[in-house]
Amino acid sequence: MLKSLETLRIWFIVTVIWSSRRRMAEAIRGFQATEADGVWHLHRGLQRITDPKQRATVFTHSLEEESHAEEFARVYRVYSDRVMTPATYEREDLLDPTAPLWKTFAFVHVGEEDATERFRNLHRSLPEGALREALGRIVADEDTHVDLTHHMLLAMGATEKEFRAEVLRVRLARLWQTWLRSGKRVVDVVASVALSVAYLVLGLFLAEPARQRLHSRVVEFDNNQLKSLG
Ligand SMILES: [Fe+2]
Ligand SMILES: [Fe+2]
Repeated sequence: MLKSLETLRIWFIVTVIWSSRRRMAEAIRGFQATEADGVWHLHRGLQRITDPKQRATVFTHSLEEESHAEEFARVYRVYSDRVMTPATYEREDLLDPTAPLWKTFAFVHVGEEDATERFRNLHRSLPEGALREALGRIVADEDTHVDLTHHMLLAMGATEKEFRAEVLRVRLARLWQTWLRSGKRVVDVVASVALSVAYLVLGLFLAEPARQRLHSRVVEFDNNQLKSLG
């Protein structure tokens, strides 16, 4: 059920929303920002790793994410004549720096799973073109990142059971954030509709008296008298 909904969502994005090249370029700009954001988080995590082998693995991983950000920046230029300005994101550490390091990488792991799934679905649905080619290369990397981050978490001391529990917790936290964001959007839309209706109703009642006043030749308001403040 969820898979069919996702397939339908991707189909809608590719065929309807991305029928406009400008909107497609905007989405690519968003992908570029997400990849660049991933690099930042990896470097934040890297600062807390002491094991040289793990540091080297995370650094190599960050280079691949950087290459994805550059790939999307290159593809953006194929679909847009504008100079690509980076989409700005407020960057905050994923977790309290005092929390166990592997928990930070649980966030990274979930991000890798989601990116792989999303890019793979887009790659399947897109027609031949620069974005499809780039996504093919990126999905091949992302696939390896899912296993890489899983092994990294275990190497950092998490048990398989703790790993699964933390991934579930991260997923629920992300779902809750998505729910809050969509709830805010719904409230914004409802508030705009309610205000529009209120203005329309007020307009219907006030239009006629306002028209009469405009046509009236009698000055009903005289401000020639000095006002007393006393
Ligand atoms: Fe990536
Ligand atoms: Fe990745």
